[in-house]
Amino acid sequence: MKTNSYFPLKFENDNLIFINQTQLPLVENYISTDDYNRIAEAIKRLEIRGAPLIGIAAAFACALAFKKRNIKDEEYFNKVYNRLAATRPTAVNLFYALKQIEEAYLQLSSSDDIYQKLLEVSFKIFSDEEKYSDRIAKNGLNIFRKKSNILTHCNTGALAAAGFGTAFAIIKKAFENNLVNHVYVDETRPLFQGLRLTAFELEKNGIPFTVQTDSSAAVLMKENKVDLVITGADRIALNGDSANKIGTYNLAVLCNYHNIPFYIAAPSSTIDRSIATGEEIAIEYRSSREILFVGKHQIGKETYQCFCPAFDVTPSHLITGIITEEGVFPFPYNFIR
Ligand code: MRU
Repeated sequence: MKTNSYFPLKFENDNLIFINQTQLPLVENYISTDDYNRIAEAIKRLEIRGAPLIGIAAAFACALAFKKRNIKDEEYFNKVYNRLAATRPTAVNLFYALKQIEEAYLQLSSSDDIYQKLLEVSFKIFSDEEKYSDRIAKNGLNIFRKKSNILTHCNTGALAAAGFGTAFAIIKKAFENNLVNHVYVDETRPLFQGLRLTAFELEKNGIPFTVQTDSSAAVLMKENKVDLVITGADRIALNGDSANKIGTYNLAVLCNYHNIPFYIAAPSSTIDRSIATGEEIAIEYRSSREILFVGKHQIGKETYQCFCPAFDVTPSHLITGIITEEGVFPFPYNFIR
């Protein structure tokens, strides 16, 4: 069970309580709501973020939509579903969770307590993800050959998933097993999930770390300061091509050049079994404002044209292994079961 002094979200007193991740690490502010629209907005604004966590939040949002309107109504359900599905396109966990909610909804009869039933499904999604995180952490120990320096990108901890997260859960478990020397954290432009969130989580867990600009990774590798790279993923195709935070592909190319193992850690809810390769992954493009402003501070002219993909796709041949709750899968990948 999670024993952190912070939590990404919890369901209590018929409300979803979530930490506003856009204010971290300087302000630890929790928001409580029973409004599914507010949760959709939080996902869109990245107050709630990270692939598995988005799915969990969306499931609770669907349940809450029926708290005050506890009747079967297809049109209303579709409206709620579509509102949540439209928040962010890349993380497949969102659609995986919504699909589970939809399947449960379709089986309900008009006499059922829809709110309670959808809540049960949401809690199940949450606890399944918690178990996956635990098992990913244990499986991840198998990739360590010695006490290592790890480089990571974006945020994959308790703020991004259930339990202690994905790549972060491995780092934490390995640290507890005396297998981690130091963690190098990419700041992760443009929204700084590394600097703001991973640094916050490493500090809370007492794990030694250094933050660097994304463009410093090559130098760290050249100076033999990185033994392995572990990141998360937002969607994995059947051939292992993996979408993750923009800049992940750069790291995989650098690892290939410097002969450093590059691992992806993700629950099976991140594997999209409907797509063969990464070519089919929808990449989210975000506002140029996220490049032109740092927080509220403007640093570039609004007339500048910007290229702002939130994710990139790392081709599977650059990935040494994909760590899921089922084990460590080496290239070439075969997730078809
Ligand atoms: O845009 P974000 O912050 O939601 O992006 C998150 C990531 O890219 C994470 O690396 C990914 O979701 C893995 S979460 C355990």
